[in-house]
Amino acid sequence: MLAKILLSVVAALVTYSFISSIAKKLRHAATAKVLGCDPAPVEPRADPFALINLVKTMWAHGNNQLLEYLQGTFENTSSHANRTVYTYETEFLGDKVLFTCDPKNIQAMLATQFKDFELGQIRTGSFNPLLGHGIFSADGKQWERSHALLRPQYSRDQVSDLDLEERHVQNMLQALPIESKKEKYVFLDSLASETDDPVEIRNQLLSILVAGRDTTAACLSFMFLMLAQHPDVFSKLRKTIIEDFGTFDSPKDISFSRLKACSYLQWCINETLRLYPSVPWNSRRSAKDTSLPTGGGKDGLSPIFVPKGVETVYIVQIMQTHPEIWGPDANTFRPERWQNQRHGFEYLPFNGGPR
Ligand code: HEM
Repeated sequence: MLAKILLSVVAALVTYSFISSIAKKLRHAATAKVLGCDPAPVEPRADPFALINLVKTMWAHGNNQLLEYLQGTFENTSSHANRTVYTYETEFLGDKVLFTCDPKNIQAMLATQFKDFELGQIRTGSFNPLLGHGIFSADGKQWERSHALLRPQYSRDQVSDLDLEERHVQNMLQALPIESKKEKYVFLDSLASETDDPVEIRNQLLSILVAGRDTTAACLSFMFLMLAQHPDVFSKLRKTIIEDFGTFDSPKDISFSRLKACSYLQWCINETLRLYPSVPWNSRRSAKDTSLPTGGGKDGLSPIFVPKGVETVYIVQIMQTHPEIWGPDANTFRPERWQNQRHGFEYLPFNGGPR
């Protein structure tokens, strides 16, 4: 008797999940039609559940070759679709995932359709143990609060305040041999005036540290590597810097606005961050049934339907070195390309949109 009841319950559950999955598919198809969407190309797979692709991805990740591997997946999907594919669909353990290096789709997620996409539970959940609800692991209202709290810290005036920086560098140097508690950090003061919750102060401080430290360190490290590999660029940059700002012994007029106006220095930094963006890939999760503007259909020009809860991975590094976007020398370090270059979302080392 008990076995019969159990069997009926299981049968009812299976039927329910089958019917609700069909209903969901029909609902998605109807919404996709209303939004004028066509299917995105699907990454070729050797088995029905794309398990081999998953293993290959994990292998590439473990062997520090993820970017090269992902580049290959775009090329592979392109040759199957007989056109250049900038956005494709694949599957991870039964979940649909989109990969894109299309500036228009990235712009939609980060800016024009900002409200349709969020960081999502995987990202916030993984960062929460370290950063709590700091800016890097927050969506919605929590993000707005962190954003308002931290904004003064990375505003332009703060960045250009060289006197403030000098004062803190001197403090740090003096603090090295003996402990000194004379000075307090301005940022800490401003945080403490907003909240006296020590956990929140720690989360926000750590978030700024995570955001600002390794990104800057990676950028400078790659820039020095590029200068070492391109002595002609190094000589030109050195000459420019000495002409504009003097030498260590007789410096002249170093300010944020003059640094910003030093074109060749800007070109070298831009070119480094183009080839080696500190955040080479990233992702967003759709907060509702929505669409991305391009990449669907035979010609790749139709919008793509994105159901709620789908992860879209966007790979800035592939976009910023794409020969069809940047020309045949896309992989060459050539600061001069920035001479007449006006860029939109095809250059995105700092992300874009409200975040
Ligand atoms: C070369 C240097 C830097 C690069 C390439 C860089 C790049 C980025 C990128 C790509 C993001 C978006 C990450 C995401 O989607 O989650 C981001 C976010 C952020 N960055 Fe930077 N960053 C740099 C330096 C800094 C510095 C020096 C600070 C602060 C002192 C900073 C503060 C932040 C903050 C607070 C966010 C989170 C913004 C939000 O989610 O609303 N960054 N940065």
